[in-house]
Amino acid sequence: MIQVENLRKEFGTKTAVDGVSFSVQKGEVLGFLGPNGAGKSTTMRMVTGYFRPTSGQIRVGGVDMLENPEEAKRSIGYLPENAPLYSDMTVGSFLGFCAELRGLRGAARDKAIDRVLETCFLESVRNQSVDTLSKGYKHRTCFAQSIIHDPDVLILDEPTDGLDPNQKHEVRNLIKRMGENKAIVFSTHILEEVEAACSRAIIIDRGKVVADGTPAELKQRGNAVVRVVIKGAAGGSIRAEIEKINGVHQIEPGLSSDEQFSGRVLVTKGRKSADIAREIFGLASGQKWQLEELHQDEGKLDEIFRSITRSDTAV
Ligand SMILES: Nc1ncnc2c1ncn2[C@@H]1O[C@H](COP(=O)(O)OP(=O)(O)O)[C@@H](O)[C@H]1O
Ligand SMILES: [Mg+2]
Repeated sequence: MIQVENLRKEFGTKTAVDGVSFSVQKGEVLGFLGPNGAGKSTTMRMVTGYFRPTSGQIRVGGVDMLENPEEAKRSIGYLPENAPLYSDMTVGSFLGFCAELRGLRGAARDKAIDRVLETCFLESVRNQSVDTLSKGYKHRTCFAQSIIHDPDVLILDEPTDGLDPNQKHEVRNLIKRMGENKAIVFSTHILEEVEAACSRAIIIDRGKVVADGTPAELKQRGNAVVRVVIKGAAGGSIRAEIEKINGVHQIEPGLSSDEQFSGRVLVTKGRKSADIAREIFGLASGQKWQLEELHQDEGKLDEIFRSITRSDTAV
């Protein structure tokens, strides 16, 4: 349903999107993950025909977006970042207006409104004006707008941003449910959303795709981590002993002092964090140090995300 090849977008001298390629089939929910400024929104704006790419190809439902934008856009529903609403309209009339923009008239229009009111749990506020809605209802109204024409393709830019945990949960379920017969791309920087709703995920960093796979595949790409706090000796000397353990890949020190070591121990790929945790436990008891904390994070998605997208610490 969506085929994107070698997409680039330059703003002046800045390259916001740098050779991004991906495809999404019907029945697939693709998570678009990346830190702020990675190029997620810019990519989505190009896929929806809102920005013209500097170069690259976009096909939606087999239609070329650059050659045939009107036709390509017909099969797309788009929830932009900070989606706009007409605050003096009622929810029902706003959705009716959106339906008409999509060419729906008469009974088809009314049916579409009823359908999205039901899908997005908005029936109770149908006749309420938009500016009197709570944030969650406003958001769902934006969401309803994006699916009013029952599109085959849905592009959702941070659809859970600014929602409370219950609302996030609801929106994720909605995405998952709709993903059964649509092609959906949604961006987020929340890792658990990817596990909760996506069949596949792409990690994008500084305009480039740096990882692409199912959540399970992505998990296998990272180092497991053991987080440790040990007291009883100088941080530096405890660290030096941990470093000697076979299977320790690297240590990221935290707040250490003359009396304690605190840090994250990255486990060599292919080795289990449980084994390394046991070694550290043995080391601490042998040395008569006090083990204050010992946590295993076995291939967590957010560890992988952190290790792949270190734009904050990269020089
Ligand atoms: N219209 C624009 N003009 C100039 N720079 C832009 C514009 N839109 C986005 N950028 C820049 O492109 C980069 C990617 O932005 P964006 O796609 O919004 O990232 P994300 O959605 O992943 O947070 C950022 O550095 C941003 O400042
Ligand atoms: Mg964005």
